[in-house]
Amino acid sequence: MSSRTEPVLVLDELGLALLMPGYQTLYRPSQQHAHRRSSAGSLSELGKACGVAQGHRRILDACAGFGTDGMTLADLGCTVTMVEQNLLVWLLLRDLDQALGRVTVEYGDCTDFMRDLRRCWDVIYLDPMFPPRRKTALPNRGLQHLRELSGVQEPDVGVTLTQLIALGRRCALARVVVKRRLKDPQDTQSAFQIKGKSIRFDVYLPE
Ligand SMILES: C[S@@+](CC[C@H](N)C(=O)[O-])C[C@H]1O[C@@H](n2cnc3c(N)ncnc32)[C@H](O)[C@@H]1O
Repeated sequence: MSSRTEPVLVLDELGLALLMPGYQTLYRPSQQHAHRRSSAGSLSELGKACGVAQGHRRILDACAGFGTDGMTLADLGCTVTMVEQNLLVWLLLRDLDQALGRVTVEYGDCTDFMRDLRRCWDVIYLDPMFPPRRKTALPNRGLQHLRELSGVQEPDVGVTLTQLIALGRRCALARVVVKRRLKDPQDTQSAFQIKGKSIRFDVYLPE
């Protein structure tokens, strides 16, 4: 298995799993979900940033990944649509959702969903891949695989995120929420921040 150079999906009796080049064991997003449930208390900053306490929220999780944040928001009572542009990640996410059945999972570029005027969101949630930083390990294997699959290059990320925020502010009814590293530079455009131990959520109001 270790001589492969391409990621592959494996279907077994437990569902779909990912096998990445250089890894000997399968990765299952469902196991990440189980871990998230056991540590859900530490994710309450996400709910605060999205304004969950202020009423029912329809949320577009525009960079879904393996759905950890989106499913947390669904657990908090939000109606969540997740969008993922990587085909393998989307297939794994869809398989996970078929087991859990509480969110809508879409394939494609989130900008197409944000430009679709027939759709209505209270909150646009953006968690694009953080730019790589030397000597900093990612917190879990799921994020490591998302980075490997997306092949993010640092110079592209800031521009893309700026465009996503601007687009989100034109279509969100209540707010745009961006996950960042705690020590990332401040963005003067944001209205306020909710801080966690190592990450923060920057909140932007609609234009
Ligand atoms: C850091 S991960 C998100 C992790 C996610 N919040 C979670 O809890 O698992 C970023 C994901 O956004 C996806 N992505 C980046 N740009 C996108 C876009 N324009 N449209 C849809 N998905 C996008 C990437 O493929 C990647 O899977």
